[in-house]
Amino acid sequence: MKTPLILSFQFMIDQTFLQILENDSGLTDITATHDWLKENKKSIELKLEEHGAILFKDLPIETADDFDQFVSTFNYDTFSYEESLSNAVRINKTSKVFTANEAPREVEIFLHHEMAQTPTYPKNIFFFCKSASEAGGETPLCRSDQLYEALLRADKTLVESFEKFGVMYNSIMSSGDELISGQGRSWQKTLGVSSKNDAEAKLSKLGYSWNWIEDDNLSVTTKTLKATKELGNGKKSFFNQVIAASLGWKKNSENQIAPVRFGSGEEIKQSCIELISELAQSLTLLRSWQDRDILLIDNYRVMHGRKPFSGNKDREVLVSLTN
Ligand SMILES: [Fe+2]
Repeated sequence: MKTPLILSFQFMIDQTFLQILENDSGLTDITATHDWLKENKKSIELKLEEHGAILFKDLPIETADDFDQFVSTFNYDTFSYEESLSNAVRINKTSKVFTANEAPREVEIFLHHEMAQTPTYPKNIFFFCKSASEAGGETPLCRSDQLYEALLRADKTLVESFEKFGVMYNSIMSSGDELISGQGRSWQKTLGVSSKNDAEAKLSKLGYSWNWIEDDNLSVTTKTLKATKELGNGKKSFFNQVIAASLGWKKNSENQIAPVRFGSGEEIKQSCIELISELAQSLTLLRSWQDRDILLIDNYRVMHGRKPFSGNKDREVLVSLTN
């Protein structure tokens, strides 16, 4: 057993991508890891506050159950996938641990804040790499407080428009899971209902608008949601799914509504999407996985995604969400 390491991300702006923060004595089992985590919880939280992401390496965490116990040690409130409005298809492994996304390996999932396209979203995301892919499959990470600052410098009016109008999202919820997509969760599961009437009642309660389209699929438009988030330290993050929705979500083929617009209904210009994507790209750290890596990110400040992957080995990255 190698010595466990905690690495915290400095991100592009600081030149050094990773900095070794602590190097503890060898932990060989779950109980020792549990004790060590309890002792170091405060300093881990401070590092998370400072950097937005922390990588744990070489801990004796092997299974979904081990990972569940690891997350449980933090004692945070669980953010349940079943009850969420997440659009990703995932498979539960324990009550709080599930697969990150069942989308096929060739599908890229672009940078986003987890569930920022819905009114409720988790604060923390724990990722656990049970099995890394042979090639690709990296997780891009982007500090969106830095992106917010960069956007302000590049186009202040654009930031003002996002703050003034907010954004609304249009997505297609299929009838039954659609596994070829990164956003293929069915309307039945997303909304936790089994009939069209119940679906409509739930959407109406959420303040969403909708229309039924071919094959009992559902086109849903959210209410206006904020596009930025105050972080409590005087800073803000560009907190939304503008990049992922614009680049990765399917367009409504019936009416060609863009997956994301300003809350006023006005389109976000292609040149603006390109500017946002380019700036985000310049601030992105592409992190390759190794088996047993655990990554904790602050979802309020750090966007994540998934690069396509290949090879014979199956990539299995599990996730747990908390508040
Ligand atoms: Fe995600």
